[in-house]
Amino acid sequence: MYNTRKLTEDLFWVGANDRKIALFESVYPVPTGVSYNSYLLMDEKTVLLDTVDKSVNHQFMENIAHVLNGRTLDYMIINHMEPDHCAEIPTIVAKYPNVKIVCNAKIQTMIKQFFDFDLDENQYIIVKEGDTLNTGKHNLTFVFAPMVHWPEVMVTYDTTDKILFSADAFGAFGAIDGNIFADEVDWEHRYMDEARRYYTNIVGKYGAQVQALLKKASGIEIKMICPLHGYVWRKNLELFIDKYSKWSSYTPEINSVLITYASVYGGTQNAAEILASKLAQNGVKDIKMYDASVTHSSYIVSDAFKYSHIVVASTTYNNGIFVSMENLLHDIVAHNLQNRKFAIIENGSWAPVSGKLIKEQLAKLKNTEILETGVSFKSAIKENKEEELENLAKVIVASM
Ligand code: FEO
Repeated sequence: MYNTRKLTEDLFWVGANDRKIALFESVYPVPTGVSYNSYLLMDEKTVLLDTVDKSVNHQFMENIAHVLNGRTLDYMIINHMEPDHCAEIPTIVAKYPNVKIVCNAKIQTMIKQFFDFDLDENQYIIVKEGDTLNTGKHNLTFVFAPMVHWPEVMVTYDTTDKILFSADAFGAFGAIDGNIFADEVDWEHRYMDEARRYYTNIVGKYGAQVQALLKKASGIEIKMICPLHGYVWRKNLELFIDKYSKWSSYTPEINSVLITYASVYGGTQNAAEILASKLAQNGVKDIKMYDASVTHSSYIVSDAFKYSHIVVASTTYNNGIFVSMENLLHDIVAHNLQNRKFAIIENGSWAPVSGKLIKEQLAKLKNTEILETGVSFKSAIKENKEEELENLAKVIVASM
């Protein structure tokens, strides 16, 4: 049974939700599922914008057939070739064999890498930056957005209705729960954190490229944003655009402290807890703390993009950083975090070395300061170390 949404007089959401998926991209937990958005424009020509993941194939094909209502599909625009959006290209070509695929040259190369279907070369319309496709009432312009978040990505702008089909940009984890527009839900409370976790983990590495896309977008009037995941935006667009501006420029959202620790028997956790209390006593608000061995690194990476100051506390293990913290630091470095202040707490019952090794990892981050004051201890916090933690809290507060 179809499940579509009417977005404008002639634009329809024909996507679907997956709430069974455990790990998006086989990496990221998605406890509230994910939506794969696809859009169908019913103009003089019919135009499908991107497809969906193979897991929701059945719903998707029913949705399209319902909206087309007996008409054929004239164009399929492909903005992004990651399989969570392109998997159903062969199914569409099989069902609508006269469809013309509108894409750029890199996308065409990837289509041929992924799939084996036969399509006449004249069924491809290869576009360049700024090219326009007229579909009757609508003019669709193509704007390239390389590395947001693959090299072939482009976005499509409907100059008639001022709608931006933004590919992965402005997406979020989480299925769409009935409502379709972000202004119909308590988005800031229910979805902001998941939008940040989506952005930082999926696209976070490519801040410069997102900035380039935002610059291009700033020159055009946008009334609606239709992303490939999550809700559609038609009101208060500045809220989300401002967040993207901050995230892509690696600007902290709040001046506060994120503490993350890796602890085997509780000694390192105790140090982290004591420091958190002392920071609070020194006036720091909204402190956040994670056990890196318990919480998936994607949540901690996300908050690392939010907070101005980050404390990393780890025990020494196998003469290295404890494995869960090592994994987290690898993720933070891989996602290109910048403009932060770090402090380090190390533990080790006979030869603590984790602090030195953490510092080596953090030194890879741009525009990042590692506070000279840290705390090194063996096994458990004793009275003299409590003073050092008090001092560390004061140094952190002074640097805020
Ligand atoms: Fe949602 Fe880059 O795919």
